[in-house]
Amino acid sequence: MLQNINEVLLSKMATIGEDVSEAIELLRRGELVAIPTETVYGLAANALDQTAVTKIFVIKQRPTFDPLIIHVGSIEQAEGYVHKFPDKALQLAKVFWPGPLTLVLPKQSIIPDIVTSGLGTVGIRCPNHPFTSRLLAELEFPLAAPSANPFGYVSPTTAQHVDDQLGDKIKYILDGGSCQIGLESTIVGFENKTPTLYRRGAISVESIENIIGPIQTILQSTSNPIAPGQLESHYAPRKPIYLGDITSLKKDYPNKVTGVLRFKKTKDTSPGDLVLSEKGNLEEAAQNLFATLRQLDRMDVEIILAEEVPNIGIGMAINDRLQRAASK
Ligand code: TXA
Ligand code: MG
Repeated sequence: MLQNINEVLLSKMATIGEDVSEAIELLRRGELVAIPTETVYGLAANALDQTAVTKIFVIKQRPTFDPLIIHVGSIEQAEGYVHKFPDKALQLAKVFWPGPLTLVLPKQSIIPDIVTSGLGTVGIRCPNHPFTSRLLAELEFPLAAPSANPFGYVSPTTAQHVDDQLGDKIKYILDGGSCQIGLESTIVGFENKTPTLYRRGAISVESIENIIGPIQTILQSTSNPIAPGQLESHYAPRKPIYLGDITSLKKDYPNKVTGVLRFKKTKDTSPGDLVLSEKGNLEEAAQNLFATLRQLDRMDVEIILAEEVPNIGIGMAINDRLQRAASK
């Protein structure tokens, strides 16, 4: 009897492994697989299979008005799913792919409407991770993959993070280690031929402008139908998080048990504070951000106090995620 119960429980748990062939087989059968990328883990399905894509929305509890991005192995593969690369998009793809850049481009009809929430454009990127590159080279379809977390929660940067939240709902998590960058991709579109930044990521505005010239910024807001996933309250831990100067925040909440998130180690750092990068390295801080927010969420504290990082390079993307996490 006991054995039977164990079998039932075990059958409900995801396998965590490094078997790319297993992932390929499951994806070909229309199943979901969590995949590693250099940014965050994705919850992947055959982007051309409407039934498989529907499972993503169900498992993530994601509203169907929030479009998914698709992942391809190369610019050549991408050309089969978008109408035409505007010159500037092609220039960016040539420089930054494979890498943390999503381009929003007019889609071909082979991409089902459910993927794009009915929009005429599709977000597309070529990720930079050896396992996922192998997947995409061998599969005969692109992978639709949002971040592998329940809608609105912090994105996963390890296989364990995926397992913690979705392990009872999917069969396989392809374990590619800790994500190298740790923040979701930079998203750029070309609405009315104007290059537009929709989401900040590791690739900065400056490095994009160095290649294609000026780009306008239209980040999120609940009323922005173009990037509906850019909802203000996003990437959020379950506990309230307050952003600002830690010393004054502590005075604002004298009676709360607080967890503290610091950028770097200074004379003000207390032993219990969690530090993103001891020496104040922004890339390291980005890698550690989501895991640290998860850690604070699990700790025995009532609220989280966090400080912003220097607003340069990837620091702008870190601050963007902190602000969204704090906006409730
Ligand atoms: O780094 C990443 O981009 C990760 C990894 C797994 O590749 N994926 C990811 O997906 O962050 P997701 O679904 O969590 O975020 C994609 C964002 C959403 O906010 C969505 O609103 C936006 O891209 N998006 C997708 N298609 C779009 C479109 N056609 N126009 C504007 N925004 C779009
Ligand atoms: Mg997401």
